[in-house]
Amino acid sequence: MTLDKLNRPLKDLRISVTDRCNLRCVYCMPKEIFGPDYKFLGRDDLLSFDEIEQICRSFASLGGKKLRLTGGEPLLRGGLPRLIGRLSRVEGIEDIALTTNGLLLPRFASDLYAAGLKRVNVSLDSLDDARFGAINGLGVGVQGVLDGMKAAADAGLQVKVNMVVKKSSNEQDIIPMARYFKDTEYILRFIEFMDVGNTNGWDLSQVITRQQIVDMIDSVMPLTPIAPQYEGEVAARYRYTGTDREIGIISSITQSFCSSCSRARLSADGSFYTCLFASRGFDLRTLLRTDISGDELTEKLRQVWNNREDRYSDLRSLEGTGPSRGAVPKIEMSYIGG
Ligand code: GTP
Ligand code: 5AD
Ligand code: SF4
Ligand code: SF4
Repeated sequence: MTLDKLNRPLKDLRISVTDRCNLRCVYCMPKEIFGPDYKFLGRDDLLSFDEIEQICRSFASLGGKKLRLTGGEPLLRGGLPRLIGRLSRVEGIEDIALTTNGLLLPRFASDLYAAGLKRVNVSLDSLDDARFGAINGLGVGVQGVLDGMKAAADAGLQVKVNMVVKKSSNEQDIIPMARYFKDTEYILRFIEFMDVGNTNGWDLSQVITRQQIVDMIDSVMPLTPIAPQYEGEVAARYRYTGTDREIGIISSITQSFCSSCSRARLSADGSFYTCLFASRGFDLRTLLRTDISGDELTEKLRQVWNNREDRYSDLRSLEGTGPSRGAVPKIEMSYIGG
């Protein structure tokens, strides 16, 4: 097992396969910034499937077990089921999941499942077309996302729903979302609006906290906290009392979870990051394109992980989020993959 400076093992790798997306969510890729002139990565900038597989082999030989494919919108990357097929055959990999906005799932769900994908996390922030359309920046309605979830479930995939909660944007959707998904087979998770990237204009006053969300739901549908499903689970879980239905809350702002963070991230152009909030990554693409051996690559990853001491969210809670923090350039979520 490979440990970092705070004794945390490397267990998960989140791989961004493209920095492009077919939505422009205000908290992630605001359309004023990610407009027609925005320079996305070019074809040659992207890691090839061979290169991604090579990195996953090294990751697995260091004890890594879980992979998650993200973007941007990962289903915009051509041939994604083929990549999943290859990664699911890498020795040591036990779980492969996908984080998506769901719109392309009706087209791809059964191929993804056949290739070895187990589960999808689908983002949806409101059940109201007008509000969802405003949040996703392009006026796209809710039905396409619900159709995506259904296609995924029908294909055999486990479905979780991610709702980013932002004050004065969709707080009125918390209860309707909770009610709606309670009667489905999908697990709903609420996510505190985070200060990722430099473009989403984050400030603390826009965060609805985990406690506020729990209190709101509990007052109409009583909740009981339950244990995590696995060590280091990002979402805190609650059950609707007396039922077998549950929700999760991801509280990076008010109850950070860095002490058990075993996640590394790979950007679409091959930089390896040891924290969602890192300002710099380690360039693996250049190494891979200079004929490095598999063992050498593994050693590089081991070194980077051994030197890791990131715990951004913990420090944010300890130090606050004054202008000095805001001034540090961070990477965009659509680039690093959330
Ligand atoms: P599961 O394996 O299903 O538990 O996935 P997950 O919750 O880790 O993945 P998902 O992509 O659905 O992420 C949901 C939210 O959690 C996103 O907003 C992520 O950015 C956030 N998140 C995931 N991992 C981390 C992390 O290490 N740090 C922080 N701060 N947020 C994270
Ligand atoms: N804060 C919290 N969650 C975010 N996501 C994207 N940007 C933010 C943010 N600023 C969520 C997406 C998706 C997941 C990968 O991250 O909605 O569900
Ligand atoms: Fe696209 Fe997801 Fe970002 Fe929305 S949150 S812009 S769907 S990558
Ligand atoms: Fe891990 Fe960084 Fe998130 Fe903390 S802030 S949980 S170290 S990715």
